[in-house]
Amino acid sequence: MPRIHKLPSAVIDRIAAGEVVERPASAVKELVENALDAGASRIDIEIDGGGVDRILVRDDGSGMTSEDARLALERHATSKISTDDDLARVATYGFRGEALPSIAAVSKLTLTTSDGSSPDAAAVRIRSDFGGRPSREVAARPRGTDVLIESLFETTPARRKFLASVEAEARAVAVVVTKAALSNPSVAFTLRSNGRETMDAPAAVDRGSRILQVFGRSTLGELETFDARSGSLKLAGYATRGSVTFPNRRYQYLFVNGRPVEDRALSKAISQASRDAIRIDRHPAVFLYLTAEPGAVDVNVSPAKTQVRFADAATAFRLVYHALNSALVAGKEERKLRSVPSGDVVAESPAPYRDPFAVPPGAPVGLPTPPPASPKDTAPPPGVVPPPEGAKRPPDIQPIGQHRESYILASGEEGLLIIDQHAAHERTLYERIRDRIASGRMLSQRLLLRVLFEATPEEVETLAARFADLAAAGFEIEPMSGRSYAIAALPAESTDRDPSETLRMALASLADAGSADEPLRRDKLAASIACRSAVTIRYHLAPEEIRRLIADWSRTQDRFTCPHGRPVVLSMSEEELEKYFKRR
Ligand SMILES: Nc1ncnc2c1ncn2[C@@H]1O[C@H](COP(=O)(O)OP(=O)(O)OP(=O)(O)O)[C@@H](O)[C@H]1O
Ligand SMILES: [Mg+2]
Repeated sequence: MPRIHKLPSAVIDRIAAGEVVERPASAVKELVENALDAGASRIDIEIDGGGVDRILVRDDGSGMTSEDARLALERHATSKISTDDDLARVATYGFRGEALPSIAAVSKLTLTTSDGSSPDAAAVRIRSDFGGRPSREVAARPRGTDVLIESLFETTPARRKFLASVEAEARAVAVVVTKAALSNPSVAFTLRSNGRETMDAPAAVDRGSRILQVFGRSTLGELETFDARSGSLKLAGYATRGSVTFPNRRYQYLFVNGRPVEDRALSKAISQASRDAIRIDRHPAVFLYLTAEPGAVDVNVSPAKTQVRFADAATAFRLVYHALNSALVAGKEERKLRSVPSGDVVAESPAPYRDPFAVPPGAPVGLPTPPPASPKDTAPPPGVVPPPEGAKRPPDIQPIGQHRESYILASGEEGLLIIDQHAAHERTLYERIRDRIASGRMLSQRLLLRVLFEATPEEVETLAARFADLAAAGFEIEPMSGRSYAIAALPAESTDRDPSETLRMALASLADAGSADEPLRRDKLAASIACRSAVTIRYHLAPEEIRRLIADWSRTQDRFTCPHGRPVVLSMSEEELEKYFKRR
C-alpha cells in the first residue's frame, strides 16, 4: 500500500474553503464582489448573528441561466477569464471560480437566480448542504441573484472556535461592505445587521459624495480632493481638512483598480505624509484610489485578493506621499481662514457645548475641577476599594513654571522634574475615571442640547454591543433612526468641547479592546476618555492650574507613565546636577 494517496474531493474543497472563507466577512466580500461583477446597480445585504447564523446578498445584476447556476457551484468554474493571458489583465473582482464552491463547502447555501430572459420571472433555486450534491428547483424572481448562507462553519467546529465575538464579526462585515461601497459609488448599497439598518447608501454621483454618505458629513467635514499621476499610475485622493483628524487609522482606505487592498508600503507613505503635514499623534481620514494598467500591478498575490504587487513600488510610494502631503498642507492653510465646523446639534438653536467644569470665558481655559473627592478621613463610598494599608504619602512636589506651554518644571524630592502636562493630567483623569467605573458610580454631565451623532456602520455594531460599558462610564446615548444617535450626557470628567469626538474615541477604544473581558474594556474606555479630556501640550496654564495639576498627579498610583505607557516625567537627581556643575 503506498502511503501517499489523493485526497477525496470533499476534503480538498474544505481545505480550499479555509483559504477563501476565513470568517463571515470573507463570505460577504466574495458574494458582494460577484454581484458587482454581474453589473448590479443595487446590492442589499443582511446578516444575523454577525453573519454566522445567516447572510443574504441580493443583487439586480445579470443573473444566471439554470445551467450556469449549476456550474457556478463547481470548483474552477468561472465566466470571467479563460486563458493564462487573461489572468495578467483581470478587470473583474473574481477570476478563480473558487468562491461559491468554497462557501458551499462550509455552509448551507441557497442560490436563487434569473437572467431575466423569460417574461414570467422564471428562476432557478439551487440548494447545497455543506458541499453535498446540490438540489435544483424552479422558482420565481426578476433578473438578478440572491445568495443565502446559513449555518456557516457548523460542520467545521475548529473554524467556528476561532471566530471573534458576534459583534466583532459584524463589524468586520461592516468594514467589507463599507469598502465595496466606497469603491463603487454608483451602486446602491444597504446593510442590515440583526434587523437594524447600518448602511443605506443610494447611488451616488461620485466618490466624494459616496464617502460623505457612508461616514457622514458631520464626521468628515469638507474633503480636500487631489489628483496625481506618474507614468501609467493615476491617483485620485480625498482627505479630511485641517483639524478633522482621528485617533487611529480606521478612516484610511486604499483601492487599487477598484479593489480594496492593504499595502504596507503605501500605508507607510500615508502615515509619513500625515505625520510630516500634521505633526501630532492624529490621523486624517484618507481615501486613495489608484489605477494602474493591468500589467503594472498583480492582484493574484493572496487568497483573499487583499494584497497587490506593483511593478514599480517606489513610484507608487512617492506618488502617494507627495500628493497626500501637499493636500494635507493645503487643507491646513485653508483651515486658518475658515471657522471650524461644529457638530450638528439636534435642537434648532445651536448653542455651543458648555461643560460644567469650564473656566469662565476670558480666563485661560484648562483644568477641570475634580468632582468633590471624598476627604481622606471619611469612609470611601460603597464599593470603592480603599488604598492599601501603608499607601505611600504623596511626594512633595513644588511647581516652578511652565516651559513652552507644554512641560511643567518642578522641584521634587527626587530632584528637578520636567513633567509632560498632558501625560500627567491624563494619568490623573484615567485613574479617577477607572476607579469610579470600578466602584459602580455613574457620574454624568448632561448636555444642554443633545448632540446628533452619526455612527459609521462599524460603530453601530460597537454601540449595540457595548452600550452597558458606555453607560457605566457616564455616556447617555439615545438611539434615533438608522445610524443616528443623540448624545444626551457625557462622563463627568470629560472636558471635551466636541461630544461626538469623545464618543467616537470611546467607541474606537472599545473596538480595539475586542472581546477582552469587562474590566479590561472599561480600563481602555477610561484611558480614552482621559486622553480626550486631558489638557493638551502647547496650552497655557495659570499658576493655580499648574499647582492643582501637580497636586492631583502626585497622588496617582502609577505616576511615571501615562495610560498608554508613555513616560510622564523626566527627573534629574541632585547628584546628577551636582556632577554636571562640577560641584562634586
Ligand atoms: N451574483 C451573481 N450574479 C451573476 N453571476 C454570478 C453571481 N455569482 C456568481 N456568478 C457566476 O458564478 C461564477 C462562479 O462564481 P465564483 O465567485 O465562485 O467565482 P468567480 O467570481 O468567477 O471567481 P472568484 O473565485 O475569484 O470569486 C462566476 O464566474 C459567475 O459567472
Ligand atoms: Mg467570485
